[in-house]
Amino acid sequence: MSRSFSGGGFFRQLIGSSPRAPAYNIGSGPTAANPDVLEFYKSLPFNYHGSAAAQADMVRGRDWVQEYPVLLPLLSPEIRVLEVGCGVGWLALSLALHHRANVLAIDFNPVVIERAREIASLLKLRQGIVFEVADLFRFELAEPVDIVVSMGVLHHTNDCHGALERLCNSFVKPGGYVFVGLYHAYGRRPFLDHFARMKAAGASEEAMFAEYRRLHPELKDDTFARSWFRDQVLHPHETQHTLTELLPLLERCRMELRATSINGYTPVTDYQDLERGERNLEKLGTLALNQGKYYPGFFVFLAQKRKA
Ligand SMILES: C[S@@+](CC[C@H](N)C(=O)[O-])C[C@H]1O[C@@H](n2cnc3c(N)ncnc32)[C@H](O)[C@@H]1O
Repeated sequence: MSRSFSGGGFFRQLIGSSPRAPAYNIGSGPTAANPDVLEFYKSLPFNYHGSAAAQADMVRGRDWVQEYPVLLPLLSPEIRVLEVGCGVGWLALSLALHHRANVLAIDFNPVVIERAREIASLLKLRQGIVFEVADLFRFELAEPVDIVVSMGVLHHTNDCHGALERLCNSFVKPGGYVFVGLYHAYGRRPFLDHFARMKAAGASEEAMFAEYRRLHPELKDDTFARSWFRDQVLHPHETQHTLTELLPLLERCRMELRATSINGYTPVTDYQDLERGERNLEKLGTLALNQGKYYPGFFVFLAQKRKA
């Protein structure tokens, strides 16, 4: 496969000779990607370890898809998954290695794509996964896929709603699913306020890093911990959202909400209940922070595209 391909009017065939392989075009034209975000992640990407070998061990030793039980019943060998904003690829790699999914994973940062490819090679994943440098606003698929996943990405663009519409309208097939993680408008407030107060009181970056590590002691590797701290405390651009705010968009895109972390993945039967649950996330965030616990205010949801 030629790496020099840079868009144009045709689609390149993906994964070997598999008949299920989607073809894609990295595209060109207008974008709502944020250039500051790209520069920020080029200097140190999120979820970045000191070495590719350490990251390969992390994926080999643990199936990270298990973190999201709602995804498990949707998976079967050869199912076609697109990951948008894959970073170094822990989720894409877990889907390919532990579930034999046929995964295409894109990110606009060449640094993470290079690292993800290195990890795939250490894991001896020669088929079933392709990492490509591409901007989600330009990227095109010849044929929509079964599942689109995107964790913590869309809120780092200049148009989170436009990005979500793109996932729903251009990338997922009728009957297929999108699984998206975003910062929550209420849930994230206590965490952001906490660090904003520290900064206003004159705390140095190192003091804030120490505070972050106190709240999130599980991150042992120094580079890894710093990559999380930068991502969650020093980011140049993020927006926060509610699921209630996104419901009209999902409806417009013919998507049905199936599950969300906001209500512990129980069936969503009443949207007013959902909204109450959303408002309550601020209290939960404050409580967690007061107890010295890590609560960055992130939520996920699963939505299914109606069949034509
Ligand atoms: C917080 S990181 C999350 C990475 C990965 N999903 C993870 O969970 O580790 C956000 C990612 O979104 C990517 N990103 C931001 N805007 C993008 C765009 N317009 N197209 C593709 N990737 C983008 C960044 O390069 C970065 O890797």
